[in-house]
Amino acid sequence: MDTITRKASKGHRLVLLPLPYQGHISPMLQLANILHSKDFSITILHTSFNSPNPNNYPHFMFLPIPDTGNEMHSLSDLKNILQLLNYINTELVDPIRACLERLMKEDERVVCLITDVHWFGTQSVADGLKLPRIVHRTSNISSFRSFVAPVLLRDKEIRSARGVNLLNKLNKITWQKSKGKKVVPITLKTMDKSEASASVSRLETFEVKDLPKFLPSDPEGKYKILEVMVKGTQEARAIIWNTFKELEEHELEALREDFPNPHFLIGPFHKFFPALSSSLRTQDQTSLSWLDKHPPKSVLYVSFGSLVRFEESQFLEIAWGLANSKQSFLWVVRPGSVEGSEWLEPLPDGFLERIVEGRGYIVKWAPQQDVLAHPATGAFWTHSGWNSTLESICEGVPMICSSSFGDQLLNARYVSDVWRIGVKLENGFERGEIENVIKKVMADEKGLEFKNNIINIKRKVNLCVKKGGSSYSSLEDLVNYILSF
Ligand code: UDX
Repeated sequence: MDTITRKASKGHRLVLLPLPYQGHISPMLQLANILHSKDFSITILHTSFNSPNPNNYPHFMFLPIPDTGNEMHSLSDLKNILQLLNYINTELVDPIRACLERLMKEDERVVCLITDVHWFGTQSVADGLKLPRIVHRTSNISSFRSFVAPVLLRDKEIRSARGVNLLNKLNKITWQKSKGKKVVPITLKTMDKSEASASVSRLETFEVKDLPKFLPSDPEGKYKILEVMVKGTQEARAIIWNTFKELEEHELEALREDFPNPHFLIGPFHKFFPALSSSLRTQDQTSLSWLDKHPPKSVLYVSFGSLVRFEESQFLEIAWGLANSKQSFLWVVRPGSVEGSEWLEPLPDGFLERIVEGRGYIVKWAPQQDVLAHPATGAFWTHSGWNSTLESICEGVPMICSSSFGDQLLNARYVSDVWRIGVKLENGFERGEIENVIKKVMADEKGLEFKNNIINIKRKVNLCVKKGGSSYSSLEDLVNYILSF
C-alpha cells in the first residue's frame, strides 16, 4: 500500500449508515468527521428513529431513509433487538437501495458505502449497485471475537483447552438443556459453577460466563442473526475499528484467520475529533461546575451508558453502596432507566438530603468526555460499553466494571484481567461488594496500580494518533484504499 496519502478531491463522496443507537451513532459521526478532514464529502444515511441532529453537522449532507420510525420505536426496547435487526435488514433494504440509487444518479462521485456491521442486509444492495461496502464495528476486536464465536466454532468443532467439547458447551449456552422433563433455557442461573467458569478455546481470556448473553427465549433467532452478520462482515471490502494496534494486535492476528478482509485500526476516533455534539440527550453542564469544587482525583464518576436498565432493587444497592463508601460521586441516572420509575423516586425518603447532599451529585446525562478529562475525576464506575471504556482509557481514569450484556462482558474482563486497569464487580449489584470495591479503587494501593497501568496505555494512545503512529498510518492507508476503488 502507498505510504503517501492521496488526497480525496472534494466530491469523492462517502455514504455512512449508523445503527440508530447512541453507542453506535457517536463513533460513526466521529468517523465521518475524520474522513471529511481527509477531503471526502459525507452523506449520512439515517433512520428517522434516533435521527442525529443535522444542525450540529452543517458540513454533511443528511439523507433520511423514508421509514415512519414507528415500527423501530416500538422495537426500541433492548429485549426486541433481534426483531429490530431483522426489521431493518429486511423492510428497510429496498428504501435504502432507492436512496442510494437516487444519490448515485445525482452525484456520480459516490465511491463507497460505510455501514455499521449490523446493517448486514445492505451488502446485497451494495453489490447490486457495484458500490464497495466497508463495515465499521463499534466494539473492539476482542469482544467481536467472542461475539462471533458461536458461529465460527460451531463450524469448526474446535475443542476447548480442558478437553470439554466446546461445541456442546456453546450449544448449551446458545440453545436449551433438559431439566427433568422440562426443557429450560440456558442462562447463568441454570448453568453450574464449573460450566460457567470453564475456559473457552481460542478465546483464552474468556470464561464461558463472559460470552455475550442474548435472549434465551429465541436462541435460534440469535444464531441466524449472528450467521448473517458474520457473512455480511466477511463479504465487506474492509473493516474499520475504533481501537488501536498497541491494545489489540494479538487479537487482530487471531481474528484474521476467519476475517481475512483488510482491517483498519484508526481509533480512538475522539482523539482525532473531540466530541462534537453527537449526543442524543442534553448534557448537564453543571456536572463540570460541581466537579470544579472538588480536589484532584477525589470523585467517582458513575454512569451506565445509554441502554442499560435496572430493577429497583439493583438501583437501591447501587445507591447504598455509593453512600456507604463515603466517597464523593457524580452519578448519571437516565430518566426511565429504573424499571417502573420516572427518575429517582425509589430512593428512600431523606436519602438525597441526608446522605448525598454535598458529597454526591446526580444528573440525567453528563458531558462524559469532559467529566472524564476533569482533574477531580478519580475513577469511573461503568457498564463497560466500548465508547465509555475507550474514553476512560484516553483520560487515564481507572474503572469499576458492572457489565450487563453484549460486548460489555468482554470489555470488563479485559479491563480487569488483561489490561489490569480496573476491577470487575463479579456478583452483580451488592452494596457490601460495591462499597469495598469503590474504596479499593479510589483509595487503596490497588487503585494506584490500576492508575499506573492505565497511564501507560494512555501514553501509547497519545502516540498512536500522532504522525507516524499506528492509527495515524492506518488512517492514511484507509484513505488510499478507498481512493483505489
Ligand atoms: C451500546 C452498548 O451498551 C455498548 O456495549 C456497545 O459497545 C455500544 O453500544 P452504550 O450503552 O450507549 O452503547 O455505551 P457506550 O458504548 O459506552 O456509549 C455511551 C456514549 O454515551 C459514550 O460516548 C459516552 O460519552 C456518552 N455518554 C454517556 C454521555 O455523553 N453522557 C452520559 O451521561 C453517559
